[in-house]
Amino acid sequence: MKIKSADFVMSNSDVAKCPNEPLPEYAFIGRSNVGKSSLINMLTNRKSLAKTSGRPGKTQLINHFKINENWFLVDLPGYGYAKVSKKDKNTFQKYITNYFLQREQLVCSFVLVDIRHEPQKIDLDFMQWMGENGIPFAIIFTKADKLKPQVINKHIQHYSEKLLASVWEEVPQYFITSSSKKIGQEEVLGYIDSINQNFFEATKNSPI
Ligand code: GTP
Ligand code: MG
Repeated sequence: MKIKSADFVMSNSDVAKCPNEPLPEYAFIGRSNVGKSSLINMLTNRKSLAKTSGRPGKTQLINHFKINENWFLVDLPGYGYAKVSKKDKNTFQKYITNYFLQREQLVCSFVLVDIRHEPQKIDLDFMQWMGENGIPFAIIFTKADKLKPQVINKHIQHYSEKLLASVWEEVPQYFITSSSKKIGQEEVLGYIDSINQNFFEATKNSPI
């Protein structure tokens, strides 16, 4: 899929105030600093559409970006950032939880995981919560430029085993990416494109 336009639309902390157009939407979630905002920039070929930072906790709100005038990418704050106060953490958890549970336009989410690290409980718990609530997601491994291909394969194998040993009967769809080396762009955009096509096909045939 070719990216012809990518525009920032709005930021807010209330799912009810998100854009109300009935367009398919894709959200990026994962631990702080995993590379969500960088990935959005890489996928859209834009340097600073989404704000990135070396320090965790950069993205604080629900950020909507409209792509090719007919679908949305959503940048979210990261979870697991220890320096956030308990009060902020609760507020954050609430609006993100509401976003995932209430956002009807959300057709698929991407849970980002740093490929270098041992599987983290917080990520596995989050994926389990998505599964229990029937929220479709795929996994995106980030920062693949930091490891050699053989090590990447070993880490994927290990991650898959952890998932299968938890609640998953099969390994969810996953992608290997690097925002700095532009790895995985075509694959992720192709996946989004196929979901978009189904979405528009289904709405075309809808009686309403
Ligand atoms: P929060 O908004 O704080 O939750 O973080 P985020 O998940 O949006 O991460 P962000 O995109 O801001 O990136 C965090 C840091 O990781 C930055 O220093 C990026 O340059 C770096 N980074 C992101 N993606 C990659 C990648 O693919 N490879 C490498 N080497 N570094 C990356
Ligand atoms: Mg961010």
